Amino acid sequence: MGWTDRETVALIGGGHTLGRTHGNCNLTGTKWAQDPYNNIGPYFEATPGSLRGPTDGTCGTGTEAGRGNNTVSSGFEGPWTRSPSRWNYDFFDALMSEEWVPAKSPYGNDQWHTRDRSSKFAKTMRLTADVSLIADQTYLHLVEEYAADHAKFDSDFANAWFKLVHRSEDHPHQDDLEKDAGFCTSFEFLTAQQEFLP
Ligand code: HEM
Repeated sequence: MGWTDRETVALIGGGHTLGRTHGNCNLTGTKWAQDPYNNIGPYFEATPGSLRGPTDGTCGTGTEAGRGNNTVSSGFEGPWTRSPSRWNYDFFDALMSEEWVPAKSPYGNDQWHTRDRSSKFAKTMRLTADVSLIADQTYLHLVEEYAADHAKFDSDFANAWFKLVHRSEDHPHQDDLEKDAGFCTSFEFLTAQQEFLP
């Protein structure tokens, strides 16, 4: 898709400033404990109500199936930042200020946490792709820059985000998606009222 190194680092850092990895449903002691990755159990994405995937009964039932504490997703666990629903600068700040060591999610996935378990970032996590940004010298310089200059991170992320939502492999030019509105891409968002109509 033609991303520069700068855009790559800004996008991963900005994307992972918000939200979290999910894998709350604990399969310990269930019939899937030894073999969580199959084409039936809760880690398999299936149509709700199909009794496969998160609705197979292992991770909650009814409207609670696969939701909230029953969420089943990547199997990694935890947020990247201390305020995952509010824009913040923890992603790059903590990458630089902490030493990140290998850890396991409760579901056995390889992820990373701070060596200092009493750090203010102790409850945050990193994926291997995140810590690779400080292992690679080119990326490391950009991580250093964003940790030191939050305004630069803000503006680089804003530009990269704009590009992300206006271009794709099939739409390589900056305004392709906008030009295609109503042709191959519909930008007619539903109003809240329409969305809840049966
Ligand atoms: C090396 C590239 C990337 C990798 C390997 C990666 C991997 C992941 C994984 C494993 C999750 C957890 C999914 C889950 O457990 O539900 C996740 C979540 C997320 N990613 Fe990425 N990601 C990458 C790049 C990006 C980029 C470029 C963005 C946006 C610009 C982004 C935005 C997000 C967000 C917002 C979430 C949280 C979703 C939620 O809260 O449910 N990621 N990512």
